[in-house]
Amino acid sequence: MNLLHNLLLLLLILSPYILSAESQDPAASSCNDNTKANATISRNIDTLLPKLVSGTIQSGFIATSYGGVHGLAQCRGDVSGSDCASCIEAAAKEIRALCPSQSDARIWYDYCFLRYSTERFFGEVDVSGFYLINTQNVTDPEVFNKKLASVMNEISSEAVRPPSRGLGRGKRDVSNFVRLYALVQCVRDLSEINCAQCLAVAVSNFPTVCGDRRGCRVLYSSCYVRYELYPFFFPLDSQESLDSRLGEKYERVMSVKN
Ligand SMILES: *[C@@H]1O[C@H](CO)[C@@H](O)[C@H](O)[C@H]1NC(C)=O
Ligand SMILES: *[C@@H]1O[C@H](CO)[C@@H](O)[C@H](O)[C@H]1NC(C)=O
Repeated sequence: MNLLHNLLLLLLILSPYILSAESQDPAASSCNDNTKANATISRNIDTLLPKLVSGTIQSGFIATSYGGVHGLAQCRGDVSGSDCASCIEAAAKEIRALCPSQSDARIWYDYCFLRYSTERFFGEVDVSGFYLINTQNVTDPEVFNKKLASVMNEISSEAVRPPSRGLGRGKRDVSNFVRLYALVQCVRDLSEINCAQCLAVAVSNFPTVCGDRRGCRVLYSSCYVRYELYPFFFPLDSQESLDSRLGEKYERVMSVKN
């Protein structure tokens, strides 16, 4: 796990983040200012983006190249086809607005992820990205952290089994009234071992980044890890709804690979 040692945490709180319509607003984005898209690359990005959108709508994931630009797009494995489509369409539009002149750009939503670069990155573990951290702490950290470790262990194993396509989901009762929901999702171009590595890096950063928080999202370029004390993934049980997420407040913290 060399990455563990290379991981430099920039404890830079960018802005408070209040959840709104989950599938519409980007959770985070990153434009690599060390890269410049000239006119040709810019045109090729514009040609690549619709291919990424249609491929994602068709099969939930695509990694493809056009004219020297490598692009990858994916929806979270549990979301519906229509949520996936509206998410990835928004992502393709928004990324060009946010990063109009860079050739390396990434955008994270809760339901989808999209990136492109003139560097070929397919299959590589990349833990640069962001954390979204709930501003509230849990009331009983000792019990909570045990349940969290147990569910993360279970769903990380689930994610690396080939039929899961990098997705793992689980729940734990923390008390009679409180239930923990957790989800992991690897980008589907990763091998099983690389998926396991990305998830392990995310979970290993829980104590320093997400320590005792009621909810935390790890938005890495190669995997997404999230836990909350409310339902946020599909399928929902009959007594569950997504509405309980409203009002939760998050802080955004950047993660960069050294
Ligand atoms: C544009 O950038 C690409 C890759 O960075 C490079 O290969 C190409 O020669 C450039 N084209 C022009 C017209 O500068
Ligand atoms: C939450 O816990 C952390 C340490 O684990 C502490 O630094 C922080 O002040 C606490 N925040 C709240 C809102 O209680």
